[in-house]
Amino acid sequence: MKEQLRQIEETASAAISSCTDLRALDELRVKFLGKKGELTAILKQMGKLSAEERPVMGQLANEVRGKLESMISEKSAALQEAAKAAKIAAESLDVTMPGKRPAMGRLHPLQIVENEIKEIFLGMGFSVADGPEVEYDYYNFEALNLPPNHPARDTQDTFYITENILLRTQTSSVQVHVMENQKPPIRVISPGRVYRSDAVDATHSPLFHQIEGLVVDKGITMADLKGTLELLMQRLYGDDCKIRLRPHHFPFTEPSAEVDVMCFNCHGEGCRVCKGEGYIELLGAGMVHPKVLEGCGIDSSVYSGFAFGLGLERIVMRRYNISDMRLLFENDMRFLEQFR
Ligand code: DAH
Repeated sequence: MKEQLRQIEETASAAISSCTDLRALDELRVKFLGKKGELTAILKQMGKLSAEERPVMGQLANEVRGKLESMISEKSAALQEAAKAAKIAAESLDVTMPGKRPAMGRLHPLQIVENEIKEIFLGMGFSVADGPEVEYDYYNFEALNLPPNHPARDTQDTFYITENILLRTQTSSVQVHVMENQKPPIRVISPGRVYRSDAVDATHSPLFHQIEGLVVDKGITMADLKGTLELLMQRLYGDDCKIRLRPHHFPFTEPSAEVDVMCFNCHGEGCRVCKGEGYIELLGAGMVHPKVLEGCGIDSSVYSGFAFGLGLERIVMRRYNISDMRLLFENDMRFLEQFR
């Protein structure tokens, strides 16, 4: 029996020392010291011993029990301490580490320049008007002096929803809405999307953006048009920027002009960028045709006005030196991230 007790003490001590987690330690406690444990099993055999042997064995058994119990409680304390330290290490927070920045979006280059142009016009007393992209033929063409079968319609082929309803080909349609709803003096710009059934290439897209301008009042002349556009271009491209008006034809203006802006690359000298011209074509403009005014209920013998329409993509491409319009619509983050 003495041998058995020594045996238990030895195996239990070894098992307790090499134990590495609390649950296993508890299992060892049950195995050796529990009610059905190995030590208890031995104590149950005490009855078989002689009266002299019994107290000796009893004392020995108690010693073994006491030793194992204290080993277990020491081990338990050590394991709990280690678990706590590991938990603290895992949860530790270094408050001196730099924070994680949330990914910030930014404005699209088309929006940046549109905002800039809006600011310039707001500063000149204009307001911003909005119009529908799905439009009646009447507003897109007819009221702008482009009756059915007018040849100029061919250059603005678009997407028809019904025979009378289409995706607008130009923001000029907003001129008609504004003049129908507002009496002069009128000073508005109207930025927005327009559509044409053009094939995609470096300078064409079936969807692009225009900014329309319209001023109607008493005594408005071509000089007001030129002064307004010159100021716009100087704000966009620098104070030394000059513009040039060339005679042109638009059905809704008379006289009409195409407006060129001095080449940003050679400042009018003539270079590769402007193909030796010194100027680059940028927009269409003119004096609002009396027929258009009258059609909107404005007396053309009292009032006159100017209008213009500029392509936003062209201005953005010039501003940032972008050679391919497709870049503006592909939404490649590596491209878009460059603009602030
Ligand atoms: N709507 C014309 C276009 O898309 C541009 C334009 C020309 C607008 C002359 C005007 C204007 O307001 O007066 O080509």
